[in-house]
Amino acid sequence: MATISQEERGTWNSKLGFVLAASGSAIGLGNIVFFASNAYQYGGGAFYLPYFVALFALGIPVMIVEFGLGASTRRALPQALSAVAGKRGEFVGWWSLSCALLITMYYIAILGWALGMMVGALGGLFEPGATAPFAPFLEPSAGVSSTVYFFDLIATYWPMLAVLVIWALNGMILIKGTATIEKAVRIFVPLMWLFMIGLIVLALTRDGGLDGVLYLFTPDFAGVSDPAVWKGAFAQMFFSLSLGLGTMTAYASYLPKRSDVVNNSLLVSFMNCGFEFLAGVAIFGLLFAFALNPVGGTLSLSFFVIPQGIAEFGALAKVLGFAFFFLMVVAGLTSSISLIEGPAAALRDKLGISRAAALAIVFVPGALGSLAYTLPTIVDPGLAANGTLGLSLLDMMDHWVFNYSLLTVGFLEVIFVGWVLGASKLRRAVNLHTRIPLGPWFDVVLKYVAPGLLGFVLIWSLIQEFGGGLYAAGNPLGGFDWLPVAVPLFWLIFTLGGAAYLTYGRPTPPPPSPFDTMSDDVSAL
Ligand code: ALA
Repeated sequence: MATISQEERGTWNSKLGFVLAASGSAIGLGNIVFFASNAYQYGGGAFYLPYFVALFALGIPVMIVEFGLGASTRRALPQALSAVAGKRGEFVGWWSLSCALLITMYYIAILGWALGMMVGALGGLFEPGATAPFAPFLEPSAGVSSTVYFFDLIATYWPMLAVLVIWALNGMILIKGTATIEKAVRIFVPLMWLFMIGLIVLALTRDGGLDGVLYLFTPDFAGVSDPAVWKGAFAQMFFSLSLGLGTMTAYASYLPKRSDVVNNSLLVSFMNCGFEFLAGVAIFGLLFAFALNPVGGTLSLSFFVIPQGIAEFGALAKVLGFAFFFLMVVAGLTSSISLIEGPAAALRDKLGISRAAALAIVFVPGALGSLAYTLPTIVDPGLAANGTLGLSLLDMMDHWVFNYSLLTVGFLEVIFVGWVLGASKLRRAVNLHTRIPLGPWFDVVLKYVAPGLLGFVLIWSLIQEFGGGLYAAGNPLGGFDWLPVAVPLFWLIFTLGGAAYLTYGRPTPPPPSPFDTMSDDVSAL
């Protein structure tokens, strides 16, 4: 099987290009849509301690691992893990990417809805008694206009067209690899910061806006003994930093030799969390300024609670609403390209195929999946749960993949690197080219702290899961009541089957390990 040379794989033109791309991958819907709603759900200030533990004990170390693996092996995740832990490493790499593909499908479905709302902002979204192009839902018409608009929109076929547009945009950015990715992120990432700063100014200049910020920033240690808060913070951190998804290793595999992995990891992690806090400030500011109640699921906050606040701006609402959804689309796009690049790079490394062929292998099931998540069939006209078939599927798949795959992959990565390879070998490799050398404490984090924390929340979660009955089994599903069983089964069969086929059905020798020549003696470091 032809191996692809590094020249064909591509290399970032500059450190800035890489940092923009990696921070663009990290900053996305997780920062804008999920962070604020998780922080609210877990009690604002109670989220703090777990969040910072997640950043320093898990986020940054796992980022160093994922960047370190990519930069040292110059391979995407499965091949990089295969250099560390053989076939079982490769298997985990493919499992991670298959789960990431399932996430990408619904990530793009959400972007499709955001695109629909962005267009709607210029049309009827902020007009009284708003309805989307068609209005198949009768029930939510009693609600506020953004809620009506959102549910009416997702019950039409328009979002299916929107997801195809988003997939096409991803294709255009990815087709020439690092060269086109770098061009896109140089425009989109600064734009995203600019829009976020604008949103903050908007929120904080309203009466009451500052109260929201105080709510977000006042530490409250009451929730700290609740494992659910810790699990929420860990999953949020992994998703937000794009960890456990194969993206960061793929991006780092395009780094020039001698890149400073530690410095890059710190930069990207702090940029991401900085943006996340700014987004929290803006969103909590708007919530408090307009006394909005962010009840409901994760998506409700961005899709109809915040727009409800934006509607209060009267004549400006159309422009502001457009800008808000534009920000979501742009931030999401710089993340979705990385989510697609992860498996595409891995398929090229494994099968020696062209970039176009690898992208096609990801795009066909990916776009079909996004279409499934935007299926407009109404299964729950009373909106007791999720309304449409697409949104119900999304909710179920998100429950399983988001809660379990990222943290499980992170757990296995630190076990492989910490114990199978030997934490000191990775540390030595990254220390060769860094201005911020890692001390032996890093080995302790990788071998004990990170697996301990992740193992604890995963076991706790599973116990809760089995004690709580099958997820979504009680939801109104309009005749599709078998879905709560079928979705987790599909998740397991698709991801484990895909990983087994690619690892064992198409065996390839592991790439030469760049770590083999390194001694385990790090006393010199
Ligand atoms: N890290 C990306 C986000 O937060 C996936 O949206």
